[in-house]
Amino acid sequence: MTDLVTLRRDDNISVITIDNPPVNAFGVKVREQVLAALLRAADDAATDAIVLRCAGRTFIAGADISELGKPPLSPTFPEVIKAIEACEKPVVAAMHGTALGGGLEVALGCHYRIALAGTRLGLPEIKLGIIPGSGGTQRLPRLVGIEKALAMIMSGSPIPAEEAQASGLIDAMVDDLDAGALAFAREVAARRPVPRARDRADRIAPFVADPAALDAAAAAYLKRAKGLHAPAAAIDSLRAAITLSFDEAIARERALFVALRDGEQSKALRHIFFAERAAAKVDLPAGEKPRKVERAAIIGAGTMGSGIAISFANAGIPVSIIDLAPEALQRGLDTVAKTYRGALARGGLTQEQMDHRLGLIKGATDLAAIADADLVIEAVFEDMEIKRKLFADLDRLAKPGAVLATNTSYLDVNAIAQATGRPQDVLGLHFFSPANIMRLVEVVRAEKTAPDALATAIALTRTIGKIPVVVGVCHGFVGNRMLRLRTVEAERLLLEGALPQEVDRALTDFGFAMGPFAVSDLAGLDIAWRMRQAQGLRAEIADRLCEMERFGQKTGRGFYLYEAGSRTPKPDPEVEQLIVETAARLGIARAPIAAKDIVERLLFPMINEGTRILDEGIAQRSGDIDVIWVSGYGFPSWRGGPMHYAGTVGLPYIRDRLIEFAVKTGDARHRPASLLEKLAGDGKAFVTLDG
Ligand code: COA
Repeated sequence: MTDLVTLRRDDNISVITIDNPPVNAFGVKVREQVLAALLRAADDAATDAIVLRCAGRTFIAGADISELGKPPLSPTFPEVIKAIEACEKPVVAAMHGTALGGGLEVALGCHYRIALAGTRLGLPEIKLGIIPGSGGTQRLPRLVGIEKALAMIMSGSPIPAEEAQASGLIDAMVDDLDAGALAFAREVAARRPVPRARDRADRIAPFVADPAALDAAAAAYLKRAKGLHAPAAAIDSLRAAITLSFDEAIARERALFVALRDGEQSKALRHIFFAERAAAKVDLPAGEKPRKVERAAIIGAGTMGSGIAISFANAGIPVSIIDLAPEALQRGLDTVAKTYRGALARGGLTQEQMDHRLGLIKGATDLAAIADADLVIEAVFEDMEIKRKLFADLDRLAKPGAVLATNTSYLDVNAIAQATGRPQDVLGLHFFSPANIMRLVEVVRAEKTAPDALATAIALTRTIGKIPVVVGVCHGFVGNRMLRLRTVEAERLLLEGALPQEVDRALTDFGFAMGPFAVSDLAGLDIAWRMRQAQGLRAEIADRLCEMERFGQKTGRGFYLYEAGSRTPKPDPEVEQLIVETAARLGIARAPIAAKDIVERLLFPMINEGTRILDEGIAQRSGDIDVIWVSGYGFPSWRGGPMHYAGTVGLPYIRDRLIEFAVKTGDARHRPASLLEKLAGDGKAFVTLDG
């Protein structure tokens, strides 16, 4: 067995070092070896104090998440932490990088905590649908107080070392971890008894005296936790900290943790955690590396172009925005400046950061300005001829080896690539609006895209803080191709008997942030209208609304009414009348539709299309489709994305319902995809295809 943990002694201090790359996850082998090392050091007469530290880029980043789905193995987390805390000699956690989740819980079990400047500490369990299950909800509040613990546990966001020190979570910050840890350990080596977080009562005392205050403090967090189980459990566990003995509270915390760990929500969130990371992987032929990107250029200074430019500047990459129309360029640069001023006013960045980032963005009205860019992203009007002409120009002007990307959301990237003499450098980077906020990027691999160009695009999108997912070429790629089916179905539901607010409500109750009609109103109905016209398609209700110049929020009317200055959708009797009349004209008898049926009608056809997308190899894994829907389209992450969700519903049921939908609507696309039929017949889930 390889050593994941080493023990060495420096004079009277024993140093336990964990070395389990990449993030020192605290898996069972590590736990076993840490426990053994601890017991040895505790028994060693020459040892007065013990340091627990990690090699590599970070302190323990948590439990090994892949172990959470399996039966727990001994020694468990709580057993190891209990042994550390019980040790009679002082144990000092020396942290660097990110001390997260179970990692921070281990540190909380130590008697002292020190951290290298720059360390970030947090309990992100809530993001995985669980709560800290190894004392985090008990020891943290005893060190930092209930309010601070509540904020950390409910947000899951890590705090910087300075804040950790100010709040009492760590005892000291050091500039040299090894030397600092040894010096600190020597300083405390003789102190007895050792301080144990479990024995502290002072910081939680105000809430022990007034337990009801917890509910008041928790209310705001719970309001934001719609549909999720973990937040309420976290509050229950914190309540135990102020109403039960430490040992009883620890048992309560563990029970709550286990129930969540074994529940569907956490399984879904863990699936998304790994799917996000898998989606960013491409196998490069041996010896090949991503190309260097030191400068970028964006063509088109519209909302999309400006948003993308901001993302680059935020990551410290110099970027030019090019627009041939000087007024459009100025508008784009103004949008950028306005966005930064807004962030400055909200405290999201400092004046100095803003000045630096603005300094990285240069405007130009001449395409020749792309000459020094390593990556060019085109974000101009969605029209094939315009794009092809532009790419022919890029071919002439871009430097050799520059990656040339189109931000098209539908068009054929192969055809765009063919407009150049270097199709190997061309690919799609489909950002989502607003591009400085939305994290998803569909990285479209065209027929001739070179692997290193693809790897460059992926590495770059990760550098600018996005979630890249590799997809193949087809109309609308993965996200919009599936969305299209939902849009068609949503309109059919109106004609068959539902109202926009009922359809939207069914999906927001399911967990989406917004329903399809509220989304259309926000995006503007005219965009989809123009696209339908170009393709000779018709949507009875949406087209009619556009003809009435009801374009959504921007005109104060769309599927809903909006009062001046308000973004709150109000049901509109005029729209209801339009729906009823249209259905009558088309000879459709309207009847009420239950929320469950609305959800199935909207989601099952998308899942069916997702299956075709998988079968065609447009997406490499079902998890990729899930990541796209969770990070780009508001699918509730705790349901794991459409394909994972399909597994929880059961594919045979979905297949049978699709057959009913095909008969009812006469829409052949609702016939179950052959791969769906096969998996349903074999009793398998999509994830079995992912390898
Ligand atoms: N358990 C198992 N694997 C983990 C892990 C964990 N707790 N944390 C990270 N990994 C794996 C990732 O899956 C990835 O594996 P891969 O290279 O095979 O894809 C690798 O470690 C690197 O992680 P990544 O997220 O790509 O690196 P990063 O430098 O961007 O971020 C962290 C590092 C630690 C901030 C980030 O991985 C993270 O937040 N991890 C989860 C922490 C957590 O939730 N802990 C609580 C669990 S109780």
